[in-house]
Amino acid sequence: MRGRICGTGSYIPEHYYDNNDLAKFVETNDEWIRERTGIVRRHIAEEDTTVSMAIKAAKNALTDAKLNADDLDLILVSTITPNTVIPSTACEVQKELGAVNATCFDISAACSGFVYAYNTAQAYIAAGMYQNILVIGSETLSGIVNWKDRGSCILFGDGAGAVVIAPDDKYGIEALSLHNDGNAGDALSCSTSGHIAMNGQEVFRFAVRRVPEVIEEVLGKCGWSKEDADLYVLHQANIRIIQSAARRLDIDIDRFAVNLDEYGNTSAASIPLLLAQLDDEGRLEQGKRIVCSGFGAGLSWGAAALTW
Ligand code: COA
Repeated sequence: MRGRICGTGSYIPEHYYDNNDLAKFVETNDEWIRERTGIVRRHIAEEDTTVSMAIKAAKNALTDAKLNADDLDLILVSTITPNTVIPSTACEVQKELGAVNATCFDISAACSGFVYAYNTAQAYIAAGMYQNILVIGSETLSGIVNWKDRGSCILFGDGAGAVVIAPDDKYGIEALSLHNDGNAGDALSCSTSGHIAMNGQEVFRFAVRRVPEVIEEVLGKCGWSKEDADLYVLHQANIRIIQSAARRLDIDIDRFAVNLDEYGNTSAASIPLLLAQLDDEGRLEQGKRIVCSGFGAGLSWGAAALTW
């Protein structure tokens, strides 16, 4: 059986910083940030937390999937910014939803988190162990960003995206690939009580090399040509990374979905957030072929090819 996305939801806090707001407290400017990253705004949680945003996105996804909370067998939350070390974010979501039948745990794979969580969901579905699985990416990166570091604070934002995944014999996952390189982990790090520290150029070089590679790998696994995939949904880190991937793969940039101008990099939330937005806009018709790719700290990277 294949894990198929049968519902999407998202939640974004209202408050945002645009590039000019950042220029008030670090030496930067709107033109530099737009040119080097494509980012215009990033939303910032004020009252909200990783848990509250996860719950709101989850409720929207459940409504979209026409399921009740007690239909859920498994809740997976991918986050690097949990409210607490324990209990897990997934258990907090379970409590609020009343998803009494669900097994719950968190996944830590940073900006690759959604692809890792989808992989986990697919493994349980293929094994026949769980049916209805809620996968959430929720992040409050504003709490771990170093707001004095202009090289990194301009990139990140807060938000949550969620999907419900259920078994299907026709549509859903076609192929998955995940990779890690722990030896290169220092390029992007954050201690339990500290701030994000990043070697931007090193992370950039890693992404522009590994993302096209892993996309070609999943395309090969499911026997699709580059043109067979209708839509490429990459982690939203930097428009130049997406443009570079499109160039290296020789795929028309119009096939790459983008919303980083509005939200910046929301780590594990970025792919489900973008999927939910595309779904709301009616751009995900049944049978559409989609390739998702996440990449980030660990280092970690991966891709998932799926039929909607
Ligand atoms: N505003 C203005 N100038 C800035 C700046 C900012 N916010 N940040 C850096 N600069 C300056 C640098 O100090 C440097 O100045 P210098 O030439 O006088 O030394 C110049 O701009 C170029 O810096 P550089 O680091 O080479 O810029 P870049 O083109 O590599 O862009 C990043 C920096 C961070 C935007 C880019 O490297 C990047 O996106 N990397 C990947 C990061 C990422 O995606 N992380 C998450 C992965 S999940």
